[in-house]
Amino acid sequence: PARALAAMAAQEPASLAALNAIIRASEPLVPGATQAVLGEGPLGAALAFVGEQPGDQEDLQGRPFVGPAGQLLSRALREAGIDRDRAYLTNAVKHFKFEVRGKRRLHRTPTAGEVAHYRWWLERELAFVAPRVVVALGATAALALSGRPVPITRARGPASFGDRPYRGFITVHPSYLLRLPDEARSEAYAGFLDDLRRAAVSAA
Ligand code: URA
Repeated sequence: PARALAAMAAQEPASLAALNAIIRASEPLVPGATQAVLGEGPLGAALAFVGEQPGDQEDLQGRPFVGPAGQLLSRALREAGIDRDRAYLTNAVKHFKFEVRGKRRLHRTPTAGEVAHYRWWLERELAFVAPRVVVALGATAALALSGRPVPITRARGPASFGDRPYRGFITVHPSYLLRLPDEARSEAYAGFLDDLRRAAVSAA
């Protein structure tokens, strides 16, 4: 990893396209992923959303937030009045990490070390996109953006990710909502919509 980092630092990219080419060419830290999943959305998007890592569907399709959690996020953005196509969507970690269980590939949470490894990309892509507000979806994104562990329930809301040219905002990850029992989900979903609306207002 030390050699990989030195090699990356030696090729400081001049554009988001150049940065993406480096990500695409890089080996996953944990072997197995089909491809790197890059961020998606326009340069200059007012709002950027950072998730954890690509899931099974994202890994196969090569696009962020297209699986079940992504579909829930899309619906929530729509209901919060946010145009997904005008926002920038990316992940803290660019490769899917999983364990095989029968025919399924089950998501494994990236370690703090893996998150730190991918910060090099995340910081640069956000610098190129230059959003007004960056929303951390869940604990891994909050860790990646702030550089330290963040308790999501207590830190939820406006946040500072250090000396950055954008404001921060922390909320839950949509996959957390999917895992909740039915009776708890609708209230938690309403809270998520509320957070998205607040983040959008602060980016206006
Ligand atoms: N979960 C994430 O954090 N990111 C994706 O792209 C999909 C699911």
